[in-house]
Amino acid sequence: MTYRFRDLLALEPLSADELNFILDQSQPFQEIQRHSLKKLATLRGKTVVLAFFENSTRTRLSFGTAASRLGADTMNLQAEASSLKKGETLLDTANNLNAMKPDCFVMRHSSSGAADFVARHLEIPVVNAGDGTHEHPSQGLLDALTIRDRKGTLKDLNVTILGDISHSRVARSNIHLLGKFGCRFTLCGPAMWVPRELEKIGPPGTPIRCVYRVEEALEDADVIMVLRVQTERLHEPSLSQNDYILLYQLNAERMRLAKKDALILHPGPINRGIEITPEVADGPRSAVLEQVTNGVAVRMAILYLLMVGATEGTHPALEVKGEPKPKESAHASD
Ligand code: NCD
Repeated sequence: MTYRFRDLLALEPLSADELNFILDQSQPFQEIQRHSLKKLATLRGKTVVLAFFENSTRTRLSFGTAASRLGADTMNLQAEASSLKKGETLLDTANNLNAMKPDCFVMRHSSSGAADFVARHLEIPVVNAGDGTHEHPSQGLLDALTIRDRKGTLKDLNVTILGDISHSRVARSNIHLLGKFGCRFTLCGPAMWVPRELEKIGPPGTPIRCVYRVEEALEDADVIMVLRVQTERLHEPSLSQNDYILLYQLNAERMRLAKKDALILHPGPINRGIEITPEVADGPRSAVLEQVTNGVAVRMAILYLLMVGATEGTHPALEVKGEPKPKESAHASD
């Protein structure tokens, strides 16, 4: 409890109360996105590392924009340019970046648990910007903020997730977050990507069902989350791109089966015409660009909470302020 907000490594260990708190803290930052002058001086003089060991455009730019709108400087490491190609270990790279004395370490890595591992070795806050198939906490938070804004609540919603759930850190973070608010989940995609074991993930008792017909998955959904199809993985369920489109694509005809006010989300990047048609992605029920705008606000709140802390007296998260981080155990699951 005490170290909860020292790092942001996963949503699984956070309570509904703490998740709501982060979402509430994002609201003033949402307001700032609407201003013509968006730059604050809150983190002036601070430096945020953006260490993207795995490629990313949206998330890296979003964290970079969040840092700069708070007045911080950034240090960028991108997979292509990194000395990882020269054989340096993750820990050596992290220690070298850390030796330049940044104040926060945002990282993405293709291995599940990589952010947790780095957090155990660094004194500064670590933010997981996606680790393997494990979690993508800032994406889960920005999705929740978008749902809360559009639906007015996060409670008791029917959430359908379409696509390759087994490899999706986005799906996992969403299930861990929304499950705490009593949401029910329907997971749908090729059987290979929607194994029955997934019914056991999420907070204890979370109703999760796996279905294999998209029509069935759309009935009663309040929120439809479409995942990107990694086309290079289509050989796993032995599907051609056309088969996938025929069986699982979210299109206007299928959307007729869904509730009139069903909200459509996609974490991006979208493969237009594969997992979703342009008319659905750009239609009135889609919130994909709101997700992107909210992403900056949520990431501003995350950086603010980790580097400054909340206003005195507002929340137990304050307990972390000034407390030393024990080297081996300072992660969110403590
Ligand atoms: C997601 C990711 O990288 O996990 N993208 C993102 O962060 N917006 C989803 C994806 O790449 O399919």
